[in-house]
Amino acid sequence: MKPTLGRTRATTKITTTLTAALVALAQGLALLPLLLPTAPAHAADAPAPPPPPRVKAEGLAATPPMGWNSWNKFACNVNEQLIRETADALVRTGLRDAGYRYVNLDDCWHGERDARGFIQPDPQRFPSGMKALADYVHARGLKFGVYSDAGWKTCGGRPGSRGHEYQDALSYAEWGVDYLKYDWCETEGLKAEGAYQTMGRALQAAGRPVLFSLCEWGNSQPWLWARDVGHAWRTTGDIFNCFDCIEDHGDWKAFGVLQILDMQRERGLRRHAGPGHWNDPDMLEVGNGMPVNQDRAHFSIWAMLAAPLIAGNDLRSMPPQTAAILGNRAVIAIDQDPLGVQGWRVAEDAGLETWVRPLADGRWALMLLNRNKAARTVRLDWVTQAWQDELSGRRADFAHTRYGWQDLWQAGRQGSTAAPLEANVGAQDVVMLALTPLPR
Ligand code: GLA
Repeated sequence: MKPTLGRTRATTKITTTLTAALVALAQGLALLPLLLPTAPAHAADAPAPPPPPRVKAEGLAATPPMGWNSWNKFACNVNEQLIRETADALVRTGLRDAGYRYVNLDDCWHGERDARGFIQPDPQRFPSGMKALADYVHARGLKFGVYSDAGWKTCGGRPGSRGHEYQDALSYAEWGVDYLKYDWCETEGLKAEGAYQTMGRALQAAGRPVLFSLCEWGNSQPWLWARDVGHAWRTTGDIFNCFDCIEDHGDWKAFGVLQILDMQRERGLRRHAGPGHWNDPDMLEVGNGMPVNQDRAHFSIWAMLAAPLIAGNDLRSMPPQTAAILGNRAVIAIDQDPLGVQGWRVAEDAGLETWVRPLADGRWALMLLNRNKAARTVRLDWVTQAWQDELSGRRADFAHTRYGWQDLWQAGRQGSTAAPLEANVGAQDVVMLALTPLPR
């Protein structure tokens, strides 16, 4: 048997007993349908079956989750040193205090399963064990996340959780895991809703509140069924580190920022998101090589979409312009607005898009997005604008209400809707405003 890293004898014993009980329970439940007489088919007038039970921990994602994940920058090159240094960097750079709380390992942290089927971290890369790593992260006022997969193997070819869901959830609880990203590779023959329900139940049974992030790429429209299963669901295939491109890998494609934005809109996703259940257009590529204007636009778009803000760059060696984008508290506040209503596009004119988002306390966010490779001058006459949100019932009628505005990327620049807005929107860049109703 491989040594159980970071697990004490006493807790191993408790875990073993608990595991045996849970496994017996799970097996018993699995056998139940076989023991019962076959149920008659539903008559046409039979009542609809009850909705599936809520299996997720409540209260963990009142606003979209924020943190960091290893994948976009480091792929499989992960180890405990990187995680420790990243936790330290989150504190040192002020990003923790700006809201980035989760430090999440993505694929490839795994070693093998032990003789009893419990997953172990890679002993070379994580010699201190996962409990010690989680402790290190927690000691800095941060939370710790891991990654697994609903199938037999992860996308990186490591052991998946299929058939080991309850065991894995127990290990995560024992280590002190706060966040699970759960992927969808090697799942031939599985149905997503059931597979994610199983892991949701396993996490619930293990007893530690875990933010459950579904990574199913939008294949089976998780926005229609995952609300009670997880706290966020990926809406598309993987992001690629570019602003406007599609990267064709043959049997799968990765998408640039604009391509992901368009899919959110075309799929009509905004109605499905809200406090506790978020559309996830994938992790951030800010700081991974796009020029600063594109990074700024990317970050602003994610905020308008009420997206999880999971940084994906090397936080240990971040240039100031990257730190300024990730750490822009005014834009973060738009993303984290407690009303939790996603924005939508109200106008489009030759690659110049106008997006708006209702905020708490009668406020609004406005984003002018210039998709073009040349700057655009914009004149927005407020009195011609009236934004009506069918979802929240909120209405902005500038003919009757006057708002003060602040430019969220140019601190100190402000004005009011009494006069038309004159703005220069840079190439592949944004102008972003917060609007506050003024007293009459
Ligand atoms: C899938 C996911 C990515 C990442 C990789 C890891 O592609 O969508 O976000 O987790 O797997 O292998």
